[in-house]
Amino acid sequence: MATSTKYITTPIYYVNDRPHIGHVYTTTICDTWARFQRLSGHDVFFLTGTDEHGQKVEQSAEARGVSPQMLADENSAEFRNIMGMFNLTNDEFIRTTDPRHEQQVQALVQRLMDSGDVYLGTFEGWYDAGQEEYYTETKAREVDFNSPISGKPLERASEENYYFKLSAYEERLRAMFEENPGIVRPDARRNEVLGRLREGLQDVPISRTNFAWGIGVPGAPEHVIYVWIDALFNYITALGLADENSDWHTARKDYWSADIQVIGKEILWFHAVIWPALLMALELPLPSCIYAHSFWISEGQKMSKSLGNFIDLEQLQGYMERYGSDALRYFLCTQGPLGATDADFSRSQFHETYTTDLVNTLGNCASRTSAMIGKYCDGLCPSDTGECAGGGVEWPEFTASQVEASIDAMDRFDLSGSIAAAMGIVRRVDAFINETAPFKLAKDPEAADQVGNILYRCAEAIRIASCLLESTMPERIGELREAWNLGEPSGDLRSECQWGRLAAGTTINKVALFPRVELD
Ligand code: MSP
Repeated sequence: MATSTKYITTPIYYVNDRPHIGHVYTTTICDTWARFQRLSGHDVFFLTGTDEHGQKVEQSAEARGVSPQMLADENSAEFRNIMGMFNLTNDEFIRTTDPRHEQQVQALVQRLMDSGDVYLGTFEGWYDAGQEEYYTETKAREVDFNSPISGKPLERASEENYYFKLSAYEERLRAMFEENPGIVRPDARRNEVLGRLREGLQDVPISRTNFAWGIGVPGAPEHVIYVWIDALFNYITALGLADENSDWHTARKDYWSADIQVIGKEILWFHAVIWPALLMALELPLPSCIYAHSFWISEGQKMSKSLGNFIDLEQLQGYMERYGSDALRYFLCTQGPLGATDADFSRSQFHETYTTDLVNTLGNCASRTSAMIGKYCDGLCPSDTGECAGGGVEWPEFTASQVEASIDAMDRFDLSGSIAAAMGIVRRVDAFINETAPFKLAKDPEAADQVGNILYRCAEAIRIASCLLESTMPERIGELREAWNLGEPSGDLRSECQWGRLAAGTTINKVALFPRVELD
């Protein structure tokens, strides 16, 4: 099977915030995709990390009486801890204060200065101090000259700054969207960007002089590079793209460009417009897809600091302790805001999803099947001799089409669609057991072959579904693999999902994958 490289990124997270569900969510969905691609035999590089420069970090550090570096070290470690805590398999955790990143950012800005894409100029505009972002006149008017994030008034500010010639890329960006509409997804997000693009593009300041916590502009150290430019470059500095003589570069350069860059919808503009324009200026290939998901809200309300209703790490850990880490992953992947609308994280919805899908469907099917194989076939996988009354399912064809649908959906980053296709197999097994009633047939010794045939089909279909669900629920599917002696994943998901790979005679031990949990 041909393997290829795959590169997936999360945003890098600000160290002046505490980790919460938003960060865990984005990283978990990327992790699920990354695992799925690895199980398919691809050579995957999965990047996440922390965004550590900027005025806000400098101010928070000052308020706490520590250096910005100390604050960054402390909080970056918290984000890094999330990876182990939530079973996330990132290949690298980049920090923008890493000298290897800093040097490359300077080299990249130097390149842009040399090509004339970055120049020194004066700027006046509406500044959102909380967001460290300038607004256009139109946008400032739209928000009534108050920050839509903090509610504080925008400030009229003027600075001598280095600028990025964004305006020069307007036509090329338009052409990019026309030629490759899938570059920004979902569609609603692309349309949003296109709408704003129609207003025209102005050059953007990419340096600041009113604080010091950042990377100096080459040759003008009183200017620090705007935190967003510094941050966006992480996606290529992590691969050593601007450090040609490093081992890093040799080992990682071929991962560029990214197959998918996952972000939240609030940082769409930077990723859908400024980022591609920077890459065009650097003459680097563009990513295949920028995927902007929507937001989790909490029990029907927007999460905010003032309401104090952020679903924080402690709460998420609570869910993990009660329901297991795979249950949390399953909930995030199937019920999350991957599309254009926000999703509600509610206790009752979590419980309902767990009970319906995992306890009553997947868990129940696996445990019924293995219990019956224990009882009627001495715990050994029966062979399929062909005869099987009832059910009316062409299992090889049915599973093959579900497998294709699941793989195809995952390739499009439709996680819930991919999982639904796999769960469709399990639901069919459930119905098949009820329709064929092997537990009744087993009372008739003459029907032993038939019982074996039914149970083979159940076990084989569950095995196939489990291969597709493994990236979402690695722990529990790992348990199933062990109990049913399925061996390690082969690295060729498609052929592993072929009907008939489960060998007769394999020891099938009983499993109880998802214990029932009472709603408290
Ligand atoms: N540092 C920038 C990103 C730079 S990338 C070059 C940043 N960091 S952040 O810490 O604020 O993280 C934002 C990300 O967290 C969002 O893009 C999104 O992935 C996630 N979320 C934050 N709140 C969220 C929700 N309520 N729901 C879902 N995800 C959200 O922006």
